[in-house]
Parts: sequence; structure tokens; C-alpha cells
Amino acid sequence: MLNIVNLSKSFAGHLAVDHISFAVNPGEIFGFLGPNGAGKSTTINLICSLLKPDSGQIFVDGVDIFNASPAWRKQLGVVPQEVALYEDISARDNLRFWGKLYGLRGRTLENRVDALLDITGLRERAKDRIKTYSGGMKRRLNLGIGMIHQPKLLLLDEPTVGIDPQGRHSLLELVQQAAREGTTILYTTHYLDEAETLCDRLAIIDHGRILATGTKAEISQIVGENRYVKVTGQFSSEAAQALPQRLSQIALVSSQPGEVVYSLPLQLGTGQLIEKMLESDFSIDNLSIKEPSLDSAFIKLTGRELRD
Ligand SMILES: Nc1ncnc2c1ncn2[C@@H]1O[C@H](COP(=O)(O)OP(=O)(O)O)[C@@H](O)[C@H]1O
Ligand SMILES: [Mg+2]
Repeated sequence: MLNIVNLSKSFAGHLAVDHISFAVNPGEIFGFLGPNGAGKSTTINLICSLLKPDSGQIFVDGVDIFNASPAWRKQLGVVPQEVALYEDISARDNLRFWGKLYGLRGRTLENRVDALLDITGLRERAKDRIKTYSGGMKRRLNLGIGMIHQPKLLLLDEPTVGIDPQGRHSLLELVQQAAREGTTILYTTHYLDEAETLCDRLAIIDHGRILATGTKAEISQIVGENRYVKVTGQFSSEAAQALPQRLSQIALVSSQPGEVVYSLPLQLGTGQLIEKMLESDFSIDNLSIKEPSLDSAFIKLTGRELRD
């Protein structure tokens, strides 16, 4: 759906986007995770042609956007980092205005406006001026405007910054709903938890460079993270201690009567561990698995934690 190849952009000799490449598959929510100043907005601005790259290519649905006729832009919806609404008019009129810009007219326009007021939960306040809206309501409307023309690809630039947890929750649900309906989404954020829960795949970006791309599990695997398995049941402490000798990739984390914790690399299946335990006469009551978090992968990749 979106294919970025070796894209670069500098400002006054400083590389804000440094030879990045990644691809977003149709229908997925692709996260673009990085701290402030990482180059997320610059990348978005390059994709929607607000900026010209120094080098590199961008393909949308196989079409090279720098050599395409302007019609390709109708496939694209953009929700900018800064809320861009007309404060003195209503939500309905804001939606109408943008709908008209995209060529919607008459009944088609009104139906789409109604649908978006429902989707964004703003129907009851549709006639009120935007300046009376909460931050969360403005963000929802901003997102609705980005979707007015039913784009195939939606670019969201940190859409939840500055809103309360409830507003954030309903906005994330909106994004998921758009994805379920078939919209492909590029979602930039500096919130790890959003990248973790919302995104099918993601790229981690810092100082203009992509440090890793893949699913959460793939990224954890790239940086050598481990999975933790806690086993409770009946087994001898000697058997628990000896297990790493029988399966060399695993390590003993802790051991006490009736409970042992091992760490194992992600590529090693838990099944192999269970097999070895059964061979060693473990009687297993319960087994709980802790997958690695994106936090620690992020710290390993960037050498720092993500903060506001
Ligand atoms: N128009 C601009 N002129 C000069 N420098 C810019 C401009 N836009 C962004 N930058 C710089 O490029 C880098 C990346 O910025 P940006 O893409 O906005 O990061 P992010 O969106 O990840 O926070 C930063 O160092 C920023 O200061
Ligand atoms: Mg930004």
C-alpha cells in the first residue's frame, strides 16, 4: 500500500530523515514510534508532498507519487499533529467544508457528514461551535475530517497528544474501527503503549533513522529479548536446576520449592521446554509466560527511555 525507499530530508544540513525504507501492507495499522524530534512529522509531510525529499522514493499502491498526476492524492487522508479546525463554525460545517474540497456534493456530502458525526460521537454537538469543544472532541473531529473522502491510506500524526485518558480511548477505538473497515493506517506516536496495543507492525525511529521494523515480537527477537516462563507444580529442586544442562538455550532465573522461572530466547518454542520438563519427571500444575515488552527493546535500540 505504502512503500518508502531510501527517503532522506535535511534542514540546513541536518538530516531530519536519514535514508529510511519501510513498507505498510494493505489494511494494517503500522506504527511509527519515536521520541520528539525523531523525524516522524517530517516523514508524514514528505508522504503528503508538503515537503520535497532530498532523495528517495515513495510509492502509494505502486504509484511513484513524485511522478504521479495529482489524482492519487484522493487516496490519502492526513490528520496533522496540530488540530486544524475552524473554531467559529460548527462540526457539521467543518466537515462540509472539507468534504466540498474533496468534491463531495449534495446528498452524498450530507450522508458522509452524518456518518462521520456518528462515528466520531459528535452528533449531539454537531451544531455547536468548535471553540466550545473539549480537546478530545476536537481531536475526534480532526480525525473525522481526515477520513471525509474515505481515503485508502490514512496518515495520523500523534493524534492523541494532549487529551485525557477517556478521550484517548475513544480516539483509539475510532482508529481501530477505520482499520477494520479496510483503511490502511500509518500511526505516528511517541507513546510505547499505543504502539504496543494498536499497531500490527511498527518501525522504531530515532534521529531520523529506522532502527528496527516488524511486529512487536520480531523487534524483540532482533534485539535478543527473552521470554520468561514460570512453572509451578511438583518437581525436585535438583531437576529444576539441571534443566538448562539439558536444553542449552534456556537459563534459570529463580527456583524455589514448587516454583521455577526460566528465560528462553524468543525463537525457542515453549513446547521444547515442556518436553524437557516432562522427561525430567516434572508434574506441571501451571505455566505462565511473560512475553518481552516493547519498552526494553526500545531502550536497547535507542539507549534511552521514551518520555514526554
Ligand atoms: N521546517 C523545519 N525546519 C528546520 N528544521 C526542522 C523543520 N521541521 C523539522 N525540523 C527538525 O527535524 C527534526 C525532526 O523533526 P520532526 O519530524 O518534527 O520530528 P517528530 O515529528 O518525530 O517529533 C528535528 O530536529 C526538527 O527540529
Ligand atoms: Mg511530530
